[in-house]
Amino acid sequence: MSAPKAPKGTYDLLPAAAERRADIVAIAADVFTSYGFRQIVTPEFEETGLFARGVGDATDIVRKEMYSFADRGGRELTLRPEGTAPVCRAYVEHGMFKLAKPVKLWYYAPMFRYERPQAGRYREHYQFGAEALGSDDPLVDAEVIAMLGQVYDELEIGDLTLAVNSMGDGQCRPAYMELLRGFLAGHAAELCGECRERAVTNPLRAFDCKVESCRAVMSGAPRLVDHLCEPCRRHFDTVLELLRRVGLDPVLDFRLVRGLDYYTRTTFEFQSNALGFAQSTIGGGGRYDGLVELIGGPPTPGFGFGSGLERVTLVAGLEEAEDEGPLAYVVSFVPESRADAFALAQHLRRDLLIDAECDLAGRSAKAQLRQAGRSGAELALLVGLADLADGEVRLRDLESGDEEDVAIAELGDWFDDWLDDDDLDGHGHHHGNGNGNPLGGNGGGEA
Ligand code: HAM
Repeated sequence: MSAPKAPKGTYDLLPAAAERRADIVAIAADVFTSYGFRQIVTPEFEETGLFARGVGDATDIVRKEMYSFADRGGRELTLRPEGTAPVCRAYVEHGMFKLAKPVKLWYYAPMFRYERPQAGRYREHYQFGAEALGSDDPLVDAEVIAMLGQVYDELEIGDLTLAVNSMGDGQCRPAYMELLRGFLAGHAAELCGECRERAVTNPLRAFDCKVESCRAVMSGAPRLVDHLCEPCRRHFDTVLELLRRVGLDPVLDFRLVRGLDYYTRTTFEFQSNALGFAQSTIGGGGRYDGLVELIGGPPTPGFGFGSGLERVTLVAGLEEAEDEGPLAYVVSFVPESRADAFALAQHLRRDLLIDAECDLAGRSAKAQLRQAGRSGAELALLVGLADLADGEVRLRDLESGDEEDVAIAELGDWFDDWLDDDDLDGHGHHHGNGNGNPLGGNGGGEA
């Protein structure tokens, strides 16, 4: 049997990448929190009917991309392809409509879609996203879009286009759809097979068909933004005005119809001009004023977005997290002192809250010192040296080689001084450059 590999369209995040991912999510989470959003976690799978109904039977996601299965009890389940329907399901199930509105929720979770893998497109991808439920005020649209813009700013993502469109609502969209169907029927000969089918099932999707002849036809198609009813028109104008008011530059894109059926009124995407491939949308979403009711809740407007971590990570200017080793490495000098070294490492970590490691592979003292250097430790604690007084340990600055004997009982004070001096230097101990190390005798703060 050949060695197993991660399934097609999935990937592993090795430690450095996983740490960078965690940093990015933490930055996003801080921004969400500052806007009053709180985290929600929903199951990795839901009843299939939730997505069939919520995302829409005619969408690519539901027709071709879901990981659906029957469990051993015969329940029809689907690995979550997107985060909005589950959040709405939880909102209804837990009676969150009784809370002050809008209810603001954010999430970070893997999504599963059986898509053709390519650069920036995976079968398991991760999104952070947010949903604001319970208000149809255009301020919600603008605030949530601005919030995502701020996340991207803080991640130092530049060169973004904010594309916006309006999908209308139950008042204006049906008549427009008839108009569009008629238009597509009149141009059937010029459309690809898929779009001829879409003309009946999901005519709006013809707008984002990539086939050249379809694009040519669609550039002359009637546009929803020109057929909005008065309330939708006003809503859209207000959103645009509010976005400009806070320094964003929304660009109207009539092709922006998005791949999920639940959208009403505002839709938007942040597209990166830095990503050199087709999958340039790093985040998108919009308003879905009918979704909560559709899945059995009270009429509840909603607005939200999802943003793909893989694509965000590719364009984030944020520096790679340093591969940080432990601060201290406890070296056992003779085999008899292994248990002492182990206990000292435990004391450092548990009682003194100092990051520490000790040898776990039966290495010689010399090999342990080499490993200490390789691990990124700044300090070695040498245990079991013959000339050490009982209860003492020798500290060695791994950069300068300076040494000092310290009573184990006084290590807490010693580390307090060491970390304080380090801080004076403007460096946390994790990034310490040795300048603040009292072992050196030249004290901290002298650059
Ligand atoms: P979506 O546009 O399907 O929307 O996905 C949101 C984002 O997830 C995309 O802009 C993209 O960055 C990323 N993404 C989607 N599919 C993949 C994939 N196969 N591989 C890598 N990244 C991907 C939604 O899912 C909606 N739930 C967003 C929303 C929330 N609308 C309202 N509230």
